[in-house]
Amino acid sequence: MQHIFQKGTDPSKPTLVLLHGTGGTEHDLLPVAQIVSPESPVLSIRGNVLEHGMPRFFRRLSEGVFDEEDLIFRTNELNEFLNEAATNYELDRSNFIAVGYSNGANIAGSLLFHHKGSLRGAILHHPMVPRRGLKLPDLSGTPVFIGAGTNDPICAPQETEELQSLLTQADAHVTVHWEQHGHQLTHTEVHAAASWLQSQFNQG
Ligand code: MLT
Repeated sequence: MQHIFQKGTDPSKPTLVLLHGTGGTEHDLLPVAQIVSPESPVLSIRGNVLEHGMPRFFRRLSEGVFDEEDLIFRTNELNEFLNEAATNYELDRSNFIAVGYSNGANIAGSLLFHHKGSLRGAILHHPMVPRRGLKLPDLSGTPVFIGAGTNDPICAPQETEELQSLLTQADAHVTVHWEQHGHQLTHTEVHAAASWLQSQFNQG
């Protein structure tokens, strides 16, 4: 997959896996990584699907309606890519934390739903429920930050709560941060995610 790798200054910090929103690129979330964990290695990935020229991580049938078959295929593909990147860049595969926004948060959620141990933790900015009716793997010891909007037109608060409950039932430790700026990713939300990461992983 097309990506940017930055070695970071402290290889013991978690590797941040950056996953952009629809129409974004692997460049978009680099400033977010600088705020969230400036010393971390960074693996910033571009989605392999194009929707009218806009990169995404999986196909959708319409706004908010996912192509489940493609979602599963692309989630496997991303997980394989993370495995290969860990080998190629000599990274600790068990120390990857996803930072995803919107469509990128949705595929990060899908990694949690489908691949046990693929993420040590996740920062999900404005995620949806990636799939329903699935038995989730055991996510105990997996901290998840969800940034959500009380007035997000793409992800209603009830869907945020549904995702929180599905992850919690799988024993993930979920923290939800609410904003009132629709589907936007704001500075305050990114800073809340940074504080959360520090509290979870004792980042100095
Ligand atoms: C999706 O398709 O993943 C969601 O609708 C969010 C987005 O618009 O990217």
